[in-house]
Amino acid sequence: MQPNKQSDGYPDGRLPVRVLIFGASLRRDSLNDRLATLAATVAEEKGGVVDRASMADFECPSYDQDVEAEEGVPAPAQRFRERLVTADAFVIASPEYNASMPGVLKNVIDWASRFRPQPFNGRQGLLLSASPSMAGGNRGLWALRVPLEHLGARVYPDMFSLAQAHQAFDGDGRISNATLQQRFEATVECFLDLVEAAKHYRPLKKQWVEYLGEHPDAATDRVEHTPVDAV
Ligand SMILES: Cc1cc2nc3c(=O)[nH]c(=O)nc-3n(C[C@H](O)[C@H](O)[C@H](O)COP(=O)(O)O)c2cc1C
Repeated sequence: MQPNKQSDGYPDGRLPVRVLIFGASLRRDSLNDRLATLAATVAEEKGGVVDRASMADFECPSYDQDVEAEEGVPAPAQRFRERLVTADAFVIASPEYNASMPGVLKNVIDWASRFRPQPFNGRQGLLLSASPSMAGGNRGLWALRVPLEHLGARVYPDMFSLAQAHQAFDGDGRISNATLQQRFEATVECFLDLVEAAKHYRPLKKQWVEYLGEHPDAATDRVEHTPVDAV
C-alpha cells in the first residue's frame, strides 16, 4: 500500500528524503559553500533531511591506478561513497574553473567511480554554482553533468547559477533579491519532490549500462542490474 503523504505527519507532507549537500570549493570564504548552506537551509525548510558536507572532507590525492592497486581507494573517497549511498540524492554547489569543474571535485568523482555497486547509479542530483561573473559559473555545471550522468546519476534538468554572487547574499545568508530567492527555493523544492517520487514511487529504470548500444560482450561490458527495491 502506498503511504499517505497528507496523514503521515512529515513536514510539508513530505515522505522522508535524505540529501547530501556540499560546496565543491576548498576556499575558506567560498561563495559556493554559502550557496550550499542556503540549499541546506531551504531543503530542511521543505522537509528534507540534510547531510551537510564540505569539499575538504573528500579531498583525495590525484587518482592513480597504481596507487589504487597497491593501497586501495583513499579514505576521503571511501567517506564520500559512504555518505553518497546513505543519501537518496546529492546537491553540489560547484565553482566554475576555466569553464569546467574544479579538479578536486573531478578527482573524487573518479575515485568514487571505482566502487561497485556504482554509487552514483540511480541517485538524483541537483547542481548549483556561484560566481562573481554574469553567468554565475553555469558553464562549469554543463561540464559536471557529463561524468555524473555517465555514472548513472539522474541529474535534475534545472541548474541554478548565482550570478554576481559576491554581491548576492544578505546578512542572513539568503539571496537579497526576493525574486531570485523565490526561484532558488522553488528549484530546491521541486527537486525534493522528484527525489521523493523516485524513492517512494518506483521509477522505471534501475540499470546502469556504460554504453547502451554497444555490442554485448562479457569481456568488456560494464553493466549493473540493480533490484528495484535496492536503490
Ligand atoms: C583557476 C580559476 C579559474 C576560474 N575560472 C572561472 C571561470 O571560468 N568562470 C567563472 O565564472 N569564474 C571563474 N573563476 C572565478 C571563480 O568563479 C571565483 O573565484 C569563485 O569565487 C570561486 O568559487 P568559490 O568562491 O566557491 O571558491 C576562476 C577562478 C579560478 C581560481
